Amino acid sequence: MARTRVLIDTDPGVDDAVALLLALASPELDVVGVVAVNGNVSLDKTALNARRIVALAGRDDVPVCAGCARPLSEPVIEDSLVHGHDGLGDLEWNDPAVALDARDGVDFIAEMIDQGPLTIVAIGPLTNLAVLLQRYPGIEGRVEHVVIMGGASLQGNVTPAAEFNIWADPEAARVVFDANWRITLMPLDLTHQAFLDDDDLAYFSDLGTEVGRRTAAMLEPYAQFHERWYGTRDVIMHDAMAVYELLDPHAITKQGVRLAVEVGGVHSRGATFIDRRREHAQSEVRVGVRVDNDRFRSLLRQRLATYAD
Ligand code: BDR
Ligand code: CA
Repeated sequence: MARTRVLIDTDPGVDDAVALLLALASPELDVVGVVAVNGNVSLDKTALNARRIVALAGRDDVPVCAGCARPLSEPVIEDSLVHGHDGLGDLEWNDPAVALDARDGVDFIAEMIDQGPLTIVAIGPLTNLAVLLQRYPGIEGRVEHVVIMGGASLQGNVTPAAEFNIWADPEAARVVFDANWRITLMPLDLTHQAFLDDDDLAYFSDLGTEVGRRTAAMLEPYAQFHERWYGTRDVIMHDAMAVYELLDPHAITKQGVRLAVEVGGVHSRGATFIDRRREHAQSEVRVGVRVDNDRFRSLLRQRLATYAD
């Protein structure tokens, strides 16, 4: 089987952690590296969390680098408490057995692009990718595919207009959306169709493995957040959708669109405009529209069960 070379740009984040564990357990993917970005929590924490998850997966062969610590412009966002104070649900962790790679995260992405066809999975704010495009003009022409979790058609989750990853650095999103490369975007209207419930948490915890126990433990405070925020403990698997798209490309229905982002506005900074008019139907830029959650979570269960203790 030809494996897809993948680099994951992330701000872990509990749902980032699930996405990473899914990717690292999937034989369809060759994960060549993980680059952290400032987002759910500050860069020092997201880089540590990325190392924790890669170590938990037993993958010390996968380099973890730190990318950008600040968005392209002010204001710098504060740590969000959605994923706990540490970004991973505030569990106890040993020092991860995976060291931080000394290479600059953005330069590392460019290095991986130089080495062969690369798909970038971006599941945090888009700062690293915007800086990549600015630092290496024309590099977008050498990237095979960019799969992004971000944006919303109708309803944001940080403000009524804006989804977190775009809101955290709208200027970066604009640079990324304006570049001429193949983008597949998983917005909130798609990701809210993909969720785990208490049966899934019990399944992970009953696996009897460290990955299973920690996945369930990380998801528990995230489920409590969902209950406070949305009135149900179903935990939305935003970031895993970007990985799932590469594992089961027909599972998510997609539509050709044109993307734009609001960088000004009194109430609308960070809003995405997903233009679904028919003239864009054949565009290389697409958004996820529908996903079958049972099909997704059965694959997730199966893949996470492959981790040994
Ligand atoms: C996005 O924001 C973060 O909190 C999640 O990790 C996900 O990437 C969802 O809006
Ligand atoms: Ca994320």
